[in-house]
Amino acid sequence: MKLKPFALERWFGEHEFSVRYNIAESCIKPFTVSELEEICRCDLLRTTEITNLGYTDSRGSQELREEVAKLYPGRTKENVLITTGAIEANYLVFMALLRPGDVVVSEFPAYQQLYEVPRALGSEVKFWHLRSEGDYRPDIAELDSMMAASDVRMIVINHPHNPTGASLDAGSMAAICEIAEQYGAALLSDEVYRGLTLIDGINTPSAQLFSDNAITVGSMSKAFGLSGLRVGWIVGPNDVIDKCWAIRDYTSICPPGPSQAIALSALRNAGSIMARNTFLARKNFSILKQWIDSNADIVSWTPPYEGVVAFVKCGVGAGSLQVAGELANVDSVLVVPGTCFEVEGYFRIGFGGDTDILETGLNLTAKRLRAM
Ligand SMILES: Cc1ncc(COP(=O)(O)O)c(C=O)c1O
Repeated sequence: MKLKPFALERWFGEHEFSVRYNIAESCIKPFTVSELEEICRCDLLRTTEITNLGYTDSRGSQELREEVAKLYPGRTKENVLITTGAIEANYLVFMALLRPGDVVVSEFPAYQQLYEVPRALGSEVKFWHLRSEGDYRPDIAELDSMMAASDVRMIVINHPHNPTGASLDAGSMAAICEIAEQYGAALLSDEVYRGLTLIDGINTPSAQLFSDNAITVGSMSKAFGLSGLRVGWIVGPNDVIDKCWAIRDYTSICPPGPSQAIALSALRNAGSIMARNTFLARKNFSILKQWIDSNADIVSWTPPYEGVVAFVKCGVGAGSLQVAGELANVDSVLVVPGTCFEVEGYFRIGFGGDTDILETGLNLTAKRLRAM
């Protein structure tokens, strides 16, 4: 198995912890332990059931699986496998279900893992393009004709979407689930960005609502602001969960106990956590909107609907890698160049962090763009 370098993660690896103004992240501002303890009104590691520092149940703790299952009506803990972040969840699903020669339909642009791992496993990946003219919403008729044209083993979608923030309405999610069923293809729905709504009433539903065969991946990283826990999950049919569970013996053996304990407390206090996170996301979103409006001669966008990332088109001549490189090295500002998503002329801005860092980072970005 030969994996190409993961451009986005390499970019973060190089710059994330050396810049002052990080406006590239895809997560809401992370919690500190004391902030989370205040919200959850408990000592995070001592008041939950999972206190052991030894190996844990390799499917994930029973309590946490039950709590995750509650997020998906009709599902039980038997449908849940706790993983080391969504990154392991996706990896296990690909390892469990794909064989060399399989055809995979994956949205594009996308988080690179979602098509690179299938390729490394010998699958042929066909891109289902999301277009800015169409608000980055997937074209269902196009999926239907792609499915009719070849024997597709798996459809991979990710909504709310990285890097554009595009959402998916219930009708489209239902149609994708139906097409997957009709053609006998597996559906992997990476839903790590669900939960952070920017506009009342726009909220991508889970694929779990529409198909018992759908495989959904979720995480504590993005909407909850707890990426350091490295807790994610797979929700799906029992046979898929069992296959993924058997493969995780080779990847991480079991999820970490302390992280699961904290994740459990956070899920039990999801209402207060999401109130803090949604307030910040919406406040920062309006600052980003103002910035785009007042710099309309050099930047433009199709605004995001959910989550805290936006894909911004850059109207200056220089390439996105050059712009992002100067921002990182000269201005100490981190944005993600579009090249990390194989799209030139764009950069991804993450607006979930501290408001003052966002404001300073955006001002420096506009100055740099005008100087290029
Ligand atoms: C679409 C998508 N899936 C999965 C992940 C990995 O998330 P986690 O931190 O839960 O491993 C990311 C991280 O950026 C992502 O954007």
